Amino acid sequence: MYLFKRVADLREALRQEKKAGKRIGFAPTMGALHQGHISLVNAAKTQCDIVISSIFVNPTQFNDPKDFEKYPVTIKEDILALTAVGTDILFLPSVEEMYPGGVNGEHRHYGFGYLETVLEGAYRPNHFQGVGIIVHKLLEAVVPDDLFMGQKDFQQCMIIKKLLEITGIPAKLHIIPTLRETDGLAMSSRNMRLSPSERQTAIQISRTLLYMKENIKQLPFDIIKQNAWKQLEDAGFQPDYIEIADAENLQLLKEPLPSGQMVMLIAAKLGEVRLIDNMVTA
Ligand code: PAF
Repeated sequence: MYLFKRVADLREALRQEKKAGKRIGFAPTMGALHQGHISLVNAAKTQCDIVISSIFVNPTQFNDPKDFEKYPVTIKEDILALTAVGTDILFLPSVEEMYPGGVNGEHRHYGFGYLETVLEGAYRPNHFQGVGIIVHKLLEAVVPDDLFMGQKDFQQCMIIKKLLEITGIPAKLHIIPTLRETDGLAMSSRNMRLSPSERQTAIQISRTLLYMKENIKQLPFDIIKQNAWKQLEDAGFQPDYIEIADAENLQLLKEPLPSGQMVMLIAAKLGEVRLIDNMVTA
């Protein structure tokens, strides 16, 4: 695996590959890698000739500075894991490399509209602008044919779809299903910050999502959401939101859609750690 720290060097290496007609796949990450990230690389490997991953903990997408400081960093293990799975290139830039004018000197702004006003957008002001800025910069550096992102961040995937539309970047977005631990907990870098007893409790998010999914046709949505809220609170969570939305556009629903997929989304705090998860209907 080649490792690049500078955009210019990465571009130069990729120029050769592109000239040779290679298909480039890209899986951006913030490190603290788990099998969910590895599944993005594996998906890229099945469809592309050259697979690039990036590790960059992006300061502009953290609305809470404490969350940024505490974001897990496991770079040695990450490099070993990416090498083992056969990643061709790792891009590992510094903050100065990605934000040469300083993190506050960045003035790009994207018209994400409704999508950034709800759910994560409402609870994490400016988070999606920060995600948009960094993914845009990474896409400019890599210019991939295919982009691989995890469904665990459902709303982020919709934001990136919109970013591709807004910018006209022709990369094809592949959304890879969430990987779960054997007890159902969605894999997430933030799980590393849970204490052993919180780790036990954390299963309740996926259980509650399953409860919602099983009852979506049977019970009124306000009852489902009330029961889900109680399940999470009883387990020791402080929920931020529990919602059911149209999976196409994230419009929040009060009753089942006559046709089309719905998505159930939860964000909840367990002690210091904020977890998110989602499930879609068949
Ligand atoms: O999902 C993530 O890890 C990050 O939000 C991303 C897409 C790498 C941008 O920093």
